Amino acid sequence: MNLKIRIHPDEILRKPAEEIKFPLSPNMPRLMRDMFDTVQAAKGVGLAAPQIGKSIRLIVINLEHLDIPIFGLINPKIKNFGGKKLEMEEGCLSIPGVYGMVKRPDQIEFIYQDLEGKKHSAEASGLMSRVIQHEIDHINGILILDKITKYTQGEELVKDSVSKNAKGK
Ligand code: CO
Repeated sequence: MNLKIRIHPDEILRKPAEEIKFPLSPNMPRLMRDMFDTVQAAKGVGLAAPQIGKSIRLIVINLEHLDIPIFGLINPKIKNFGGKKLEMEEGCLSIPGVYGMVKRPDQIEFIYQDLEGKKHSAEASGLMSRVIQHEIDHINGILILDKITKYTQGEELVKDSVSKNAKGK
């Protein structure tokens, strides 16, 4: 089922999300599947639960264009950053029409839980690392508006609604 995506400045996007507890609520697998449907329909590379109105620490990653099956991460947390800081253009499904350059470390080590509550650790680099960092920012209430160093599109759309942390001029 396709869910409605919350759009900035919806305040749920600024609220740090709650840790998900185990045993998992019986609704959770269904919610994850609905988030898969939603991110695929929107042609996005990732989606975080606050973006569909649930303030919980759940993200989904959709890099199917790179032949990586869509997946979800429960309670993901970055443990270490590594590699060079790279600048790349990012957009966000919650901030339509706005794009800008965001600098992020290339490599991350992160932990997460699966639907059974089992803890895993993993590493990522490249686009995967960038998307996971973007989605984990969402569950911490952080948006690309806080990190864009230079707008490439749509700066006028955010000018009047920038957060106090925003670095955009
Ligand atoms: Co986003």
